[in-house]
Amino acid sequence: MDTIGHMGPDIHREVSIPYSGAIIVAAGSGARLGADVPKALVEAAGRSLVSWCLAAFDASPRVASIVIVAPSGHLPAFRALAAAAATPVAVVPGGATRADSVACGLEALAPALHHVLVHDAARPLVTPAMVAAVLDGIGDAAGAILAAPLADTLKRVAPGGLIADSPSREGLWGAQTPQAFVADALRDAVATARAHGRLGAATDCSSLMEAVGRTVRVVDPGAPNLKVTTTTDLALVEALLSVRGRGPVG
Ligand code: C5P
Repeated sequence: MDTIGHMGPDIHREVSIPYSGAIIVAAGSGARLGADVPKALVEAAGRSLVSWCLAAFDASPRVASIVIVAPSGHLPAFRALAAAAATPVAVVPGGATRADSVACGLEALAPALHHVLVHDAARPLVTPAMVAAVLDGIGDAAGAILAAPLADTLKRVAPGGLIADSPSREGLWGAQTPQAFVADALRDAVATARAHGRLGAATDCSSLMEAVGRTVRVVDPGAPNLKVTTTTDLALVEALLSVRGRGPVG
C-alpha cells in the first residue's frame, strides 16, 4: 500500500491511501474474433471481457480511479458497465492504435496519481492479486509488467512460409498486461514517442519506456492470463473463468 505522511492539527501519522489509476484499453475492433460487437463486449462465462477486467480493478484497494478507453461508436454500453462500479470510472473514446488509446486514457486520468496501470480488455483473467503483484514489482524501477518466459522453440519465417532460422529463446519473455508505471514517466515516454512519430508502432507501454531508457521489471503472473484473439482463446478463457467461479479472485 502506498502511503503518505499526514500532518493533523495535533498528531502526525501515516495514512494509507489508494494511489494508482488504471486504464483499460478496450477500443479495438477484434476483427480476428469475427464478432458483431467490439471484442471487449464479447461475453465469456456470463459477462463481457471488459466487465471481467473492470471487476478485478474495482476490487483492487490500491486503485483509486479507472478509465475505460472504448470504441467511439459504443460509449453508452461501456458507460452502463462503469456506472455499476464502486470505484470512479471514466469512459473516453480511443484512438487509431492501441498506443493512441493509451494516450487518450492518460489524458483522462487524474494528474495526481503516482502510478498508472495499463491493461488490455482482451485479458479477462486478470485478478486483484495480479494487480497488487505488478504494482509491488515496480520497486526502484520506473515500471513493471506481467510476463512469462517463452516455452516454445522460436522460428523466424520468411514470407513464403519457409523457416529462415531458429532464434534462441534464452532470456525471451512474452509481455502481458497489466503493466504498471510511475505515471509521470509513462506520460513522458508517450510524449517522446509521439514527437518522434513512433507512438502508433508500439504494441505495449513497456516498449515506450524502454525506448527512453527507463527501467522496467518483469513479474510472473502466477496464474493463467491469456489474451483473447481467436475463438479458441475465447473458449479457453471461458473454461478457466467457469472453473474459477463467480467474480474475480484475489
Ligand atoms: O488488437 P489487440 O488485441 O492487440 O489489442 C490489445 C488491446 O488494445 C485490446 O484490449 C484492444 O481493445 C485495445 N486497443 C485499443 N485501441 C486500438 C486498438 C486496440 O484500445 N485502436
